[in-house]
Amino acid sequence: MADRMGWFLRMLSYLVMVPGIVCPPAWGAAGAKKIILDTDPGTDDAMALMLALNSPELDVRAITVVPGNVTAGQGLENALRMVSLANRCDIPVAGGAEHPLFQKLITAEFWHGKNGLGNIELPKSKCKADARFGPDLIIALVRAYPHEITLVPVGPLTNIALAIEKDPGIVPLVKEVILMGGSIKGGNVNAAAEANIYNDPEAAQMVFQAGWPLTMVGLDVGDKTLFGRKQLEQLGKTHGPVNDFMYGVTKFLVELSEKFGDSGTPMYDPLAVGVAIDAELVTAPAMHVDVETRGEFTRGETVANRRNEIERNVLHHFPEGDRYVIEGLDKVVPNAKVSIDVKADKFLELFVSRLQGK
Ligand code: BDR
Ligand code: CA
Repeated sequence: MADRMGWFLRMLSYLVMVPGIVCPPAWGAAGAKKIILDTDPGTDDAMALMLALNSPELDVRAITVVPGNVTAGQGLENALRMVSLANRCDIPVAGGAEHPLFQKLITAEFWHGKNGLGNIELPKSKCKADARFGPDLIIALVRAYPHEITLVPVGPLTNIALAIEKDPGIVPLVKEVILMGGSIKGGNVNAAAEANIYNDPEAAQMVFQAGWPLTMVGLDVGDKTLFGRKQLEQLGKTHGPVNDFMYGVTKFLVELSEKFGDSGTPMYDPLAVGVAIDAELVTAPAMHVDVETRGEFTRGETVANRRNEIERNVLHHFPEGDRYVIEGLDKVVPNAKVSIDVKADKFLELFVSRLQGK
């Protein structure tokens, strides 16, 4: 019996890997990385999701929705319509938090269109939402697959923070976290902060300090990956429901970028998925990152210590008055790999070819 079962599983994994024979969407290719995409869909979130679903290196185990670019309700609707378009009702899609931990929600229809998907109306979803609360689903999957799940958050970090607050025991069981957020070269919301971090700084600080392997794919590297007219034209040459939807979304974004004098749209969220596919796409040295939660001008900034040490100042009493004296350097332990450079052309080619089904 055991032999028969082994034969059956070997045949199954073979068939799954041969294109066009049998590829039940519910099963990832053998050895594919299990990911949970936590997203606020969102135009570039849509690109991230479709890249993940079209990449055999990844096995999307769940999609959890967080408010950010759009409200929680609109985000869930968008996620459901997208998985339906991709014929992937097998993937659980769960709503999560309704608002950031300690502040009011800020939504970004200004950038993402009134429905969050570049005003492209997808058909109603055939898929139903998973009844579980997003953070609970994250906990359940991490516990079901210890050391196998990679979390890919591409929105505010509220759901991830709620998951670790509820069950801190999942932290050592997560394989890694690859998040889109932050910047070490200024923000997009204001001079200091990037949107995903700004929209829930306390949650972000919890996620950065949790103590798990974490890669930050920030604004500054995303800004080096511009999807422009050349890529749009390539994507327009092939067709299919997902291909055409992606063409519409990227056209909306390219036109938007041109209105602001840019030559293309930054691939923020899809790049985080790209790094999950191939970590070599970015150069990411280890640093210690803290999230500023109080600064008057800097709330939501990711403050990265690039030297991984700080000066040790000790208070001394002198006849002329008290002062601090630098006595040495203290090591700071890195808590993140921070992306500082990216193979942009390679990534853009990967994105277009995957969306074309290659
Ligand atoms: C991030 O903010 C959102 O608008 C995008 O989806 C991306 O996740 C970029 O700052
Ligand atoms: Ca996003």
